[in-house]
Amino acid sequence: MLIKTHRDGFVHERSSEITPRAVYQERRDLMRWMASGAAGVGLAAWAGREALAQSATARPGKLAPLPGRRSAVAGAVTLEKVTDYRDASTYNNFYEFGTDKSDPARNAHTLQTQPWTVEIDGLVRKPGRYAIEDLIKLSAQEERIYRLRCVEGWSMVIPWVGYSLSKLIDKVEPLGSAKYVEFTTLVDPKTMPYVGSSVLDWPYVEGLRMDEARHPLTLLGFGMYGEVMPNQNGAPVRLVVPWKYGFKSAKSIVRIRFTEQEPGTAWNKAAKNEYGFYSNVNPQVDHPRWSQATERRIGEDGLFAKRRKTLMFNGYESQVGQLYAGMDLRKFY
Ligand code: MTE
Repeated sequence: MLIKTHRDGFVHERSSEITPRAVYQERRDLMRWMASGAAGVGLAAWAGREALAQSATARPGKLAPLPGRRSAVAGAVTLEKVTDYRDASTYNNFYEFGTDKSDPARNAHTLQTQPWTVEIDGLVRKPGRYAIEDLIKLSAQEERIYRLRCVEGWSMVIPWVGYSLSKLIDKVEPLGSAKYVEFTTLVDPKTMPYVGSSVLDWPYVEGLRMDEARHPLTLLGFGMYGEVMPNQNGAPVRLVVPWKYGFKSAKSIVRIRFTEQEPGTAWNKAAKNEYGFYSNVNPQVDHPRWSQATERRIGEDGLFAKRRKTLMFNGYESQVGQLYAGMDLRKFY
């Protein structure tokens, strides 16, 4: 059965994936309650965020609710089971804090997210340096429930909070010569224990073609599950590009640069034949060392848990397929 819902075009293949409405309603009521409780707190909550205890086993409600967020209900009815917050915040890739999946939740409390600025430069009419508080307020935030498929073969379904990157791009007015957008993330040896390691050439850099960056699905994320982003998930600001392998979704961004040339990206530099610039989720193109045809949904573990079939463009083909019309996706992997 194929059901298409809400404006993000979430597509569901099997009725067994559907969370009973009452269950999800309950979750949303809880989030609404949290949001209303925080309504008067606004940015003060953000400012006080660092003071809040953050534990790896936290449930939503432990971190500050996101200021200025639209109701979780606004147009966002999901029918696919949302990954448990605990899994989403304890099974992470954030190599600056270690290479084991549990390292970021354990180590990322050292990340200093305040003050935080994001530099916008390169081929734009209005370059500048945004304080994170101003970046958050630049456009109304919404909740978007996206699948994220990691190149390693696992996936999650996460309610992200943010706004389309295109809102920021429109504001800074790229020049006609700007063809790509490069995202540079924080590198701070004092707070990031692994940036001294040779796993990657730091800082972690990612890039998108301009039309990909402008696509409404591409999210500039400031939170998840109705709260500010946990450090391990890329606080205070990250990308979420749901039709690409997870590594394109750069965490803890400090610079956004508009360029004419395709940016050199961290994983492409580390292993060119394994990680291409595009990295669109594609079950037909194997990684040189493993198949990409199926995936494991985090939270569905157990001896008999079945792997799911990976969908072309992670299930977002009807929205993004046109961006790649005529391209040989084996060559541009
Ligand atoms: N961003 C930075 N700065 N450093 C990283 O190591 N890992 C990437 C991506 N963004 C990474 C990063 C990878 S491989 C994945 S799968 C996703 O973050 C994981 O995001 P999550 O931990 O929120 O699920």
